[in-house]
Amino acid sequence: MARVAFIGLGVMGYPMAGHLKTKGGHDVSVYNRTFAKAEAWVEQFGGAAFRLPVEAVRDADFVFTCVGNDDDLRSVTLGESGCIGGMKPGAILIDNTTASAEVARELEEACAARGLGFVDAPVSGGQAGAENGVLTVMCGGDEAAFERAKPVISSYARMVGLMGPAGAGQLTKMVNQICIAGVVQGLAEGIHFGKRAGLDIEKVIEVISKGAAGSWQMENRYKTMNEGRYDFGFAIDWMRKDLGIVLSEARRNGAKLPVTALVDQFYGDVQTMGGNRWDTSSLLARLEK
Ligand SMILES: NC(=O)c1ccc[n+]([C@@H]2O[C@H](COP(=O)([O-])OP(=O)(O)OC[C@H]3O[C@@H](n4cnc5c(N)ncnc54)[C@H](OP(=O)(O)O)[C@@H]3O)[C@@H](O)[C@H]2O)c1
Repeated sequence: MARVAFIGLGVMGYPMAGHLKTKGGHDVSVYNRTFAKAEAWVEQFGGAAFRLPVEAVRDADFVFTCVGNDDDLRSVTLGESGCIGGMKPGAILIDNTTASAEVARELEEACAARGLGFVDAPVSGGQAGAENGVLTVMCGGDEAAFERAKPVISSYARMVGLMGPAGAGQLTKMVNQICIAGVVQGLAEGIHFGKRAGLDIEKVIEVISKGAAGSWQMENRYKTMNEGRYDFGFAIDWMRKDLGIVLSEARRNGAKLPVTALVDQFYGDVQTMGGNRWDTSSLLARLEK
């Protein structure tokens, strides 16, 4: 059992912190910008809620962050009342936010300067994966910090891998998002075409999902896409944030991502349709407009 602090109790962080307590058996302190959420968490799981990140982390061996983007992350870690200033020597900061590789390296440096460990640890598996404690976690950092953090991270994960030095977890998550973007657009076009051709989409998917066209997106999203339901899942605003990070990293490393760049524009179209919070599978709504 370890002393753990969790910062950012959103759609993902709330259940992840819950698993650290219930599955991991750790002693968990929480911070959330909107304090009512931290109070609700403590009511459900026990532990202690704090009003500032710097206060929540004082005794912690492991500090988790799961906020929106690079700026949010800088604010809860390096800001005036950020957690790094309050962590005890030898503690490890584990960041679950999907952010840039650059900010991961920045945080590792800030942690090292204070005798702290750092692991960037973005996740895949969505809200359901967080709620069921079966996320995939892609880590970057030095091996010693990773080996200490891995059993704690495993409280909410099915797969935890070290991909390389700080930032390598975020770079791996970028690969993940590149793969998803193309697959979802392909699936949207397939369903769109099938409908126009007068086919029974249920029957089509039942058959082709067992062949080479099968994918996680097909299995988990075809039904709701066929019904035109998008008010759940991984929000387009988040996906565009992720693709923005991907495309700027690609400009740096010279990778050519024509399909990813196009799909990013398509998501922009869905945002103009009012779909900011719709699931990423709503690319189909754009074709049916
Ligand atoms: N949702 C998914 O399916 C999914 C899947 C994989 C990865 N992710 C990634 O995981 C991260 C969190 O996603 P989520 O779905 O949990 O988001 P969310 O529900 O919007 O939660 C965001 C959390 O960050 C906090 N926050 C944001 N900006 C802050 C700031 N400047 N200072 C302090 N706290 C701040 C929010 O506090 P308040 O409660 O006060 O707003 C909230 O606790 C994102 O990077 C996202 O891309 C999400």
